[in-house]
Amino acid sequence: MNETTTSGKLLLELKEVSKTFVKDGAEFRVLEGVNLRIDEGEFVCILGPTGCGKSVTLQIVAGLLEQSSGSVILDGKEEYGPGPHKGMVFQEYALLPWRNVIENVEIGLELKGVSKKERRRIAQEYLDIVGLKGSEESMVHEISGGMRQRAAIARALANHPKILLMDEPFEALDALTKEEMQIQILKAWEKTKTTIFFVTHDVDEAIFLSDKICVMDINPGRVKKIIENRLPRPRHEKVCRTDVEFGELRDQIIQLYSSLKDDELDLVF
Ligand SMILES: Nc1ncnc2c1ncn2[C@@H]1O[C@H](COP(=O)(O)OP(=O)(O)OP(=O)(O)O)[C@@H](O)[C@H]1O
Ligand SMILES: [Mg+2]
Repeated sequence: MNETTTSGKLLLELKEVSKTFVKDGAEFRVLEGVNLRIDEGEFVCILGPTGCGKSVTLQIVAGLLEQSSGSVILDGKEEYGPGPHKGMVFQEYALLPWRNVIENVEIGLELKGVSKKERRRIAQEYLDIVGLKGSEESMVHEISGGMRQRAAIARALANHPKILLMDEPFEALDALTKEEMQIQILKAWEKTKTTIFFVTHDVDEAIFLSDKICVMDINPGRVKKIIENRLPRPRHEKVCRTDVEFGELRDQIIQLYSSLKDDELDLVF
């Protein structure tokens, strides 16, 4: 049984989104007709081999890149450009090294003009949620990669974004820390009910985290299949990667890529 409590309210819609770049005078199409719907509170992973346009898709949603055609509709409105309602966490932590952990988490609130006392309270709340209690006063260089990424997640969540956009946020971490972070992001998601749009090329990561997996095809990048993931939650308590159902989802995804040659398939299984 899937115990996720999504509202069933559509939050983000990508409608026929295409993107063409010009390289050496020639046009090349990176994304073609991408359609995707994400409900409020859903955890959706976009999965695909390198170069299939995962980051481009996320950057278009973030408003950092403009699509060549099609539309991005967030909460009923057509989206243009970046904004504080879209939280972002990428592989690079992008924390300010001259600020300590809690001051980094406070940045967005400071920009919004939230009072010092209130932003301290909110930042503390989110540091607790991501398991960074006790590290508030540490400087960025004093904490591990996993802790930096937790701080980056707390900073994004503290702004109460409508959607959190994450581009392979755990790729730079060692395998054990990556697994810890997957559990941590699920716990933060369960507590905050934030909608998450998460890019990965790690099949198990997509299965472990998501409600829905958008499996991408390459050349040009397009949606191959949307897989509903009904593994029970909370995943870290109820799901093991050796479970039969987990293996079935993995097999389904491997099948989808059976036409790709090994050198085209850099997915992690
Ligand atoms: N700003 C840009 N200008 C020109 N081409 C770009 C730009 N950004 C991405 N591309 C090209 O678009 C294609 C898709 O890139 P994208 O970064 O989205 O891939 P990806 O699926 O995220 O891959 P990876 O798993 O390696 O991160 C690639 O061929 C890339 O070279
Ligand atoms: Mg990428």
